[in-house]
Amino acid sequence: MQSPGQVIVVLGTGGTIAGLAATPADNLDYRAAQVSVAALVASAQTPASLAVESEQVAQIDSKDMDFATWRALALRLVHHALRPEVAGIVITHGTDTLEETAYFLSRVVALAKPVVLSAAMRPASSIDADGPRNLADAIVLAAQPAWYGVAVVLAGQVHAARDVRKTHPHRLDAFSSGESGTVANIAAGEIRRLRALPAGADAVGVAVLPPSESAWPWVEILTSTAGSDGRAVDALVRAGVDGIVVAATGNGTLHRRLGAALDAAVGRGVRVLRSTRCLDGSIVAAGSETFASARDLTPVKARIELILSLLVERRSAQAIS
Ligand code: SIN
Repeated sequence: MQSPGQVIVVLGTGGTIAGLAATPADNLDYRAAQVSVAALVASAQTPASLAVESEQVAQIDSKDMDFATWRALALRLVHHALRPEVAGIVITHGTDTLEETAYFLSRVVALAKPVVLSAAMRPASSIDADGPRNLADAIVLAAQPAWYGVAVVLAGQVHAARDVRKTHPHRLDAFSSGESGTVANIAAGEIRRLRALPAGADAVGVAVLPPSESAWPWVEILTSTAGSDGRAVDALVRAGVDGIVVAATGNGTLHRRLGAALDAAVGRGVRVLRSTRCLDGSIVAAGSETFASARDLTPVKARIELILSLLVERRSAQAIS
């Protein structure tokens, strides 16, 4: 039996960090999600004072992330966080949807222990693999009691789940927190804190997450562009969509034809949330707003917000009926 706060649990989900290429020189042509999380932990240099456990929750390329895996991850987080000997939890993940999973978990579970997601831009077989360093950094961070909340660690930078986004397809430092900035730097096991992790909205709890994927709300993202019209909105409404996130121009404006179609969709019970297609910054309210704004959330995170809000509403409606 371990003393309180001595164990770090690493939950594996796949990704490039667990990828294999045909040759050690190959950093771009490889198969993601091949190496077990136990082997990844064994290859990372971790402080001798910590016991590191691992559990394989999934083994996928994160482009294929799904609601069932999100739910399983959230449940395993809650399970391990309740163990007194566990100091913190690390999740290894693909980089392609890392920001979605980090934001999803930050909105679903509120744990008094650190949760740190990490990944790699090069496969485990690479002669210059970045995974072992990133994983070791994530384990060090997860052992810091003052760091509770969901963070992302890559390339020596610590990001908050709300702010982080992938901004480059293959560079080692492929992630940015935009104008909010990184939360900390980490080098040779030393953490240099730059700002506090932002306080998130109240977590919705795992009970709202349906076991069956088909019971999750259907929410799509559309972009307002030159020449936009309402045909995509009308097709989605006819097909039974529950919600639409619109990636609006600039400070949340919409092509007039798209706006009119979205107005009609709201009249038919579809929920609409506006985010901006700008790469940085937040929508600032300017007068009355026809559609709710997701402020600083990127379109993919606004989609998660809308999915969770629909799930909460459905659960409340079930409780009343
Ligand atoms: C993935 O997202 O699973 C593949 C790409 C990566 O991890 O960099």
